[in-house]
Amino acid sequence: MALGGCQAHGGEVVSPGYLNGITESAAQAISRTYAIIPAMKILGIETSCDETAAAVVEDGADILSNIVASQVDIHARYGGIVPEVASRQHLITILPVVETAMAEAEVTWQDIAAIAVTFGPGLAGSLLVGVNVAKAISLAHRLPFIGINHLEGHIYANWLGDGQPVFPCLCLIVSGGHSDLVLMSGHGKFERLGRTRDDAAGEAFDKGARILGLGYPGGPAIEAVAEGVTPGFSLPRAWLKGNDDFSFSGLKTALLHLVQERGSLDSTWVAEAAASFQQSIVDVLVKKTLEAAARLRVGQILLAGGVAANKALGGRFMGSSSIPVLIPPPGLCTDNAAIIAACGYYHFQSAGVNSYDMDVVPSLSLG
Ligand code: KG4
Ligand code: ZN
Repeated sequence: MALGGCQAHGGEVVSPGYLNGITESAAQAISRTYAIIPAMKILGIETSCDETAAAVVEDGADILSNIVASQVDIHARYGGIVPEVASRQHLITILPVVETAMAEAEVTWQDIAAIAVTFGPGLAGSLLVGVNVAKAISLAHRLPFIGINHLEGHIYANWLGDGQPVFPCLCLIVSGGHSDLVLMSGHGKFERLGRTRDDAAGEAFDKGARILGLGYPGGPAIEAVAEGVTPGFSLPRAWLKGNDDFSFSGLKTALLHLVQERGSLDSTWVAEAAASFQQSIVDVLVKKTLEAAARLRVGQILLAGGVAANKALGGRFMGSSSIPVLIPPPGLCTDNAAIIAACGYYHFQSAGVNSYDMDVVPSLSLG
């Protein structure tokens, strides 16, 4: 029996057992892969943190819609994300966001081939909203359902638009929760070389901004005040020689001591401190990534995650790398669902679909 309304299977006969995924073993469902047809549209859903997002992407590259309802103004009042507030807000926003993504893409459920949703890493309560909505839509419209690792999704921002990554490539994923250096040898093939030992790069930006009395999220706030400013202070860089790990908590502590010594803060001093702080993070991320890229003789470096939107970081990579560096546009570096849909397109071919007993995995890693 072919799936009702779903054009995704290229005429392949799909057993009705998939639709009753609850009764089918996860192993059976996961092992099934699907034929790809042209103009394949995937609905992506992303709710891992504080953005409620849905997008429709065609053939893993063309964004037909990409709707992001940010909760940033709500969490800014508290100086950071409040998990309980985030999940409640996702509940309120998710259905209108999905409807808007479908309307803006000018598609009906008959046009959608599959649903891809983030199942980890992230906040459990937030992930649960997206995963359960995706399961419900999958059941209601008899559509295949694909669980996506959020970190893998970030990497697939580089496939959107005109991006043409080549394998093997080295991926630097720098977000609010991760600073991972990952070797990617093919679609879905990852080896994690390094990770943060304490604060992630985005977390460091957020904490540094709080120390300096700047807003949340900290990365854009630090970038804005540091733009065009000469760094005024010498802050530490944790090189962690001999491995590909990162560490930023010492830098954060050094900034805190600098602020405590200073006492009262004025905007010129804050801008110089912010520029110094940003420069330390950029120095470490760029130097360690370029060293690993040279050692591994990769053909490309891919940046991904919210911190990849930082202009100082991108500028330094572009100015100092002899290996081509791909950097997604800022709106595709930060959390959105187009990256999840793009990743879903490749999963559909290589890893197949998931059954409905797939659960959220808040501590999911990559490679
Ligand atoms: O990838 P993302 O949107 O969400 C997570 O998966 O965590 O990353 C959010 C992080 C925040 O820590 C934010 O401060 C940082 O990315 N960020 C930036 C910039 N834009 C966002 N950091 C530095 N410069 C930016 N322009
Ligand atoms: Zn993210």
